[in-house]
Amino acid sequence: MIENLFTVKIAIGEVENKDINRLFEEDAYNIKKQIVQNNVTEWNGDTFSTLGYKLQPDENMTKLLEHISQSVYELADKTDFAVELKEFWFNVASPGQFQEFHTHENCHYSFVYYVKAPENSGDISFFNPIRGDYTPDFDTGVAKNFTPKEGMFIVFRSNLMHMVKKNLSDQDRISISGNFIVK
Ligand SMILES: [Fe+2]
Repeated sequence: MIENLFTVKIAIGEVENKDINRLFEEDAYNIKKQIVQNNVTEWNGDTFSTLGYKLQPDENMTKLLEHISQSVYELADKTDFAVELKEFWFNVASPGQFQEFHTHENCHYSFVYYVKAPENSGDISFFNPIRGDYTPDFDTGVAKNFTPKEGMFIVFRSNLMHMVKKNLSDQDRISISGNFIVK
């Protein structure tokens, strides 16, 4: 008998109104102009991020965050809890920039939403936590990659290791990331 013990679930969704992304793009660049890049060294990546700056969500952002937070209930497969936003931030990956493997600390669920995703601007890669290095890789690939698409979002458990590949396009890739806490 073969039994599948554990699986890793993520949620993938899409926002229909793509026009909103031009406003988010403007927000990202406005905030980028105001702050000095600190090259978040503990993450070992050079993608520009506003992480660490407490941003207040405006109306559009609140709507987006509410929409994305619904996926947490789907992932958890229950509804008797509250999902609270802990923080959100903008990422601007210029050509050549990447983000090394990392997890998100002190939270339960995390997300990425793509505001602008040119072709070859860097897949997101989730590391398979079940992979044992003492067994041959028959059915447990090392990582699973997803190609970003404007308007797409992915919600995942915050402790799931992930990275973003190098932006090989000649334009910026812009995304919004955030962390949720469940209570
Ligand atoms: Fe991340």
